[in-house]
Amino acid sequence: MIYQVIKGRRSVRKYLKEDVPEDALGRALEAATWAPSAHNAQPWRFIVIKDESIKHELAKSMAKEWDKDLAADGLPLKERERLTRSSIERLTEAPILILACSTMKAMHAYPDERRMAAERTMAVQSVAAAVQNLLLALHVEGLGACWICAPLFCQDVVREALRIPKDVEPQALITVGRPAESPKPPSRRPLGDIVHLNRWGTRWEG
Ligand SMILES: Cc1cc2nc3c(=O)[nH]c(=O)nc-3n(C[C@H](O)[C@H](O)[C@H](O)COP(=O)(O)O)c2cc1C
Repeated sequence: MIYQVIKGRRSVRKYLKEDVPEDALGRALEAATWAPSAHNAQPWRFIVIKDESIKHELAKSMAKEWDKDLAADGLPLKERERLTRSSIERLTEAPILILACSTMKAMHAYPDERRMAAERTMAVQSVAAAVQNLLLALHVEGLGACWICAPLFCQDVVREALRIPKDVEPQALITVGRPAESPKPPSRRPLGDIVHLNRWGTRWEG
Protein backbone atom coordinates (compact mmCIF):
# COMPACT_ATOMS: atom_id res chain seq x y z
CA MET A 1 0.00 0.00 0.00
CA ILE A 2 1.46 3.35 -1.00
CA TYR A 3 0.50 5.03 2.30
CA GLN A 4 2.49 2.43 4.22
CA VAL A 5 5.55 3.13 2.07
CA ILE A 6 5.17 6.90 2.39
CA LYS A 7 4.68 6.78 6.15
CA GLY A 8 7.29 4.06 6.69
CA ARG A 9 10.15 5.97 5.04
CA ARG A 10 12.44 7.67 7.56
CA SER A 11 15.52 9.80 7.29
CA VAL A 12 18.18 7.25 8.19
CA ARG A 13 21.52 8.72 9.22
CA LYS A 14 23.51 5.66 10.32
CA TYR A 15 24.53 2.87 7.97
CA LEU A 16 26.07 -0.58 8.10
CA LYS A 17 29.47 -0.91 6.44
CA GLU A 18 27.97 -2.97 3.62
CA ASP A 19 27.92 -2.41 -0.11
CA VAL A 20 24.72 -1.12 -1.64
CA PRO A 21 23.54 -3.51 -4.40
CA GLU A 22 23.96 -1.90 -7.84
CA ASP A 23 20.65 -3.25 -9.14
CA ALA A 24 18.67 -1.79 -6.23
CA LEU A 25 20.39 1.56 -6.72
CA GLY A 26 19.62 1.46 -10.45
CA ARG A 27 15.94 0.70 -9.86
CA ALA A 28 15.66 3.54 -7.33
CA LEU A 29 17.34 6.02 -9.68
CA GLU A 30 15.02 4.94 -12.47
CA ALA A 31 12.03 5.48 -10.15
CA ALA A 32 13.36 8.99 -9.55
CA THR A 33 13.06 9.73 -13.28
CA TRP A 34 9.33 8.93 -13.17
CA ALA A 35 8.65 12.02 -11.08
CA PRO A 36 6.64 14.79 -12.72
CA SER A 37 8.73 17.62 -14.16
CA ALA A 38 7.93 21.02 -15.64
CA HIS A 39 7.52 20.69 -19.46
CA ASN A 40 8.64 17.08 -18.88
CA ALA A 41 12.09 18.67 -19.16
CA GLN A 42 13.48 16.21 -16.59
CA PRO A 43 15.94 18.83 -15.36
CA TRP A 44 17.49 16.44 -12.79
CA ARG A 45 21.01 15.07 -12.93
CA PHE A 46 22.43 12.61 -10.41
CA ILE A 47 26.03 11.92 -9.52
CA VAL A 48 26.56 8.62 -7.71
CA ILE A 49 29.66 8.76 -5.54
CA LYS A 50 31.18 5.52 -4.28
CA ASP A 51 34.89 6.28 -4.45
CA GLU A 52 36.27 6.81 -0.94
CA SER A 53 38.85 9.41 -1.98
CA ILE A 54 36.25 11.47 -3.87
CA LYS A 55 33.87 11.22 -0.88
CA HIS A 56 36.62 12.47 1.44
CA GLU A 57 37.67 15.29 -0.91
CA LEU A 58 34.05 16.42 -1.25
CA ALA A 59 33.27 16.19 2.49
CA LYS A 60 36.45 18.02 3.47
CA SER A 61 36.02 20.85 0.98
CA MET A 62 32.38 21.31 2.02
CA ALA A 63 33.37 21.34 5.70
CA LYS A 64 36.08 23.92 5.01
CA GLU A 65 33.48 26.17 3.39
CA TRP A 66 31.02 25.64 6.26
CA ASP A 67 33.76 26.51 8.72
CA LYS A 68 34.09 29.95 7.08
CA ASP A 69 30.38 30.59 7.71
CA LEU A 70 30.62 29.32 11.30
CA ALA A 71 33.68 31.51 11.95
CA ALA A 72 31.83 34.51 10.51
CA ASP A 73 28.95 33.68 12.89
CA GLY A 74 31.45 33.92 15.76
CA LEU A 75 31.45 30.25 16.84
CA PRO A 76 34.44 29.25 18.96
CA LEU A 77 37.08 27.10 17.20
CA LYS A 78 36.35 24.00 19.35
CA GLU A 79 32.66 24.05 18.44
CA ARG A 80 33.47 24.62 14.75
CA GLU A 81 35.83 21.65 14.80
CA ARG A 82 33.18 19.46 16.42
CA LEU A 83 30.54 20.42 13.88
CA THR A 84 32.73 20.12 10.81
CA ARG A 85 34.23 16.80 12.00
CA SER A 86 30.76 15.33 12.43
CA SER A 87 29.64 16.62 9.02
CA ILE A 88 32.69 14.96 7.38
CA GLU A 89 31.85 11.71 9.20
CA ARG A 90 28.21 11.85 8.09
CA LEU A 91 29.27 12.00 4.45
CA THR A 92 32.27 9.68 4.47
CA GLU A 93 30.60 6.96 6.54
CA ALA A 94 27.70 6.58 4.12
CA PRO A 95 28.44 3.77 1.63
CA ILE A 96 26.95 5.82 -1.23
CA LEU A 97 26.36 9.52 -1.80
CA ILE A 98 24.03 10.73 -4.52
CA LEU A 99 24.26 14.35 -5.49
CA ALA A 100 20.97 15.56 -6.95
CA CYS A 101 21.40 18.52 -9.29
CA SER A 102 19.24 20.71 -11.49
CA THR A 103 20.03 21.99 -14.94
CA MET A 104 18.36 24.81 -16.86
CA LYS A 105 19.43 23.38 -20.23
CA ALA A 106 16.05 21.86 -21.13
CA MET A 107 13.94 24.53 -19.42
CA HIS A 108 12.28 27.42 -21.24
CA ALA A 109 14.33 30.57 -21.75
CA TYR A 110 12.70 34.01 -21.36
CA PRO A 111 14.14 37.49 -21.88
CA ASP A 112 12.91 38.72 -18.48
CA GLU A 113 14.10 37.88 -14.97
CA ARG A 114 10.56 37.30 -13.55
CA ARG A 115 9.81 34.40 -15.87
CA MET A 116 13.36 33.05 -15.64
CA ALA A 117 13.04 32.99 -11.84
CA ALA A 118 9.80 30.99 -12.21
CA GLU A 119 11.59 28.54 -14.56
CA ARG A 120 14.43 28.10 -12.08
CA THR A 121 11.95 27.40 -9.31
CA MET A 122 10.20 24.84 -11.54
CA ALA A 123 13.51 23.11 -12.21
CA VAL A 124 14.27 22.92 -8.49
CA GLN A 125 10.72 21.72 -7.71
CA SER A 126 11.08 18.99 -10.34
CA VAL A 127 14.37 17.83 -8.81
CA ALA A 128 12.73 17.75 -5.37
CA ALA A 129 9.92 15.55 -6.73
CA ALA A 130 12.53 13.19 -8.19
CA VAL A 131 14.42 13.09 -4.89
CA GLN A 132 11.23 12.11 -3.04
CA ASN A 133 10.67 9.26 -5.54
CA LEU A 134 14.27 8.22 -5.00
CA LEU A 135 13.90 8.20 -1.19
CA LEU A 136 10.69 6.16 -1.37
CA ALA A 137 12.19 3.67 -3.82
CA LEU A 138 15.35 3.26 -1.71
CA HIS A 139 13.11 2.57 1.28
CA VAL A 140 11.21 -0.10 -0.67
CA GLU A 141 14.61 -1.63 -1.57
CA GLY A 142 15.39 -1.93 2.16
CA LEU A 143 17.93 0.89 2.02
CA GLY A 144 18.14 3.89 4.29
CA ALA A 145 18.74 7.40 3.03
CA CYS A 146 18.85 10.98 4.19
CA TRP A 147 18.43 14.24 2.28
CA ILE A 148 21.23 16.69 3.14
CA CYS A 149 20.88 20.31 2.14
CA ALA A 150 24.54 21.32 2.68
CA PRO A 151 25.47 21.52 -1.05
CA LEU A 152 23.11 24.48 -1.41
CA PHE A 153 25.39 26.54 0.81
CA CYS A 154 28.56 25.78 -1.16
CA GLN A 155 27.53 24.97 -4.72
CA ASP A 156 30.81 26.13 -6.31
CA VAL A 157 32.93 24.05 -3.97
CA VAL A 158 30.80 20.97 -4.74
CA ARG A 159 31.04 21.71 -8.47
CA GLU A 160 34.79 21.94 -8.27
CA ALA A 161 35.24 18.76 -6.21
CA LEU A 162 33.10 16.73 -8.62
CA ARG A 163 34.08 18.53 -11.85
CA ILE A 164 30.46 19.50 -12.50
CA PRO A 165 29.72 21.75 -15.49
CA LYS A 166 28.60 25.34 -14.83
CA ASP A 167 25.00 24.84 -15.98
CA VAL A 168 24.43 22.05 -13.45
CA GLU A 169 23.44 23.22 -9.94
CA PRO A 170 24.00 20.99 -6.92
CA GLN A 171 20.74 20.85 -4.93
CA ALA A 172 21.02 18.05 -2.36
CA LEU A 173 23.19 15.19 -1.23
CA ILE A 174 21.49 11.92 -0.44
CA THR A 175 23.39 9.56 1.86
CA VAL A 176 22.50 5.92 1.19
CA GLY A 177 23.24 2.59 2.86
CA ARG A 178 21.81 -0.39 4.70
CA PRO A 179 20.14 1.09 7.80
CA ALA A 180 21.98 0.77 11.11
CA GLU A 181 19.17 2.51 13.00
CA SER A 182 15.36 2.58 12.93
CA PRO A 183 14.41 6.14 13.83
CA LYS A 184 11.04 6.80 15.42
CA PRO A 185 8.71 8.78 13.15
CA PRO A 186 8.98 12.50 13.89
CA SER A 187 5.53 13.98 14.49
CA ARG A 188 3.48 15.59 11.75
CA ARG A 189 1.23 18.62 12.11
CA PRO A 190 -2.49 17.72 12.03
CA LEU A 191 -4.30 18.51 8.77
CA GLY A 192 -6.46 21.06 10.59
CA ASP A 193 -3.33 23.18 11.17
CA ILE A 194 -2.06 23.15 7.60
CA VAL A 195 -5.03 22.72 5.27
CA HIS A 196 -7.49 25.55 4.71
CA LEU A 197 -10.91 25.24 3.12
CA ASN A 198 -11.66 27.62 0.27
CA ARG A 199 -10.12 30.60 2.09
CA TRP A 200 -7.19 31.08 4.46
CA GLY A 201 -8.51 30.87 8.01
CA THR A 202 -11.30 28.38 7.35
CA ARG A 203 -9.93 25.14 8.69
CA TRP A 204 -10.21 21.68 7.24
CA GLU A 205 -12.08 19.65 9.85
CA GLY A 206 -11.58 16.20 8.25
C1 LIG B 1 15.05 20.12 1.86
C2 LIG B 1 15.47 19.19 2.96
C3 LIG B 1 16.69 19.37 3.56
C4 LIG B 1 17.12 18.50 4.56
N1 LIG B 1 18.38 18.66 5.09
C5 LIG B 1 18.81 17.80 6.03
C6 LIG B 1 20.15 17.90 6.51
O1 LIG B 1 20.94 18.74 6.06
N2 LIG B 1 20.55 17.03 7.46
C7 LIG B 1 19.72 16.07 7.96
O2 LIG B 1 20.14 15.29 8.83
N3 LIG B 1 18.44 15.93 7.52
C8 LIG B 1 17.98 16.78 6.57
N4 LIG B 1 16.70 16.63 6.06
C9 LIG B 1 15.83 15.56 6.58
C10 LIG B 1 14.81 16.12 7.57
O3 LIG B 1 15.45 16.46 8.78
C11 LIG B 1 13.73 15.05 7.80
O4 LIG B 1 13.08 14.77 6.58
C12 LIG B 1 12.68 15.51 8.83
O5 LIG B 1 13.26 15.66 10.09
C13 LIG B 1 11.51 14.52 8.93
O6 LIG B 1 11.99 13.23 9.24
P1 LIG B 1 11.64 11.97 8.29
O7 LIG B 1 12.32 12.22 6.96
O8 LIG B 1 12.22 10.76 8.97
O9 LIG B 1 10.18 11.89 8.14
C14 LIG B 1 16.27 17.46 5.02
C15 LIG B 1 15.02 17.29 4.40
C16 LIG B 1 14.64 18.13 3.37
C17 LIG B 1 13.32 17.89 2.69
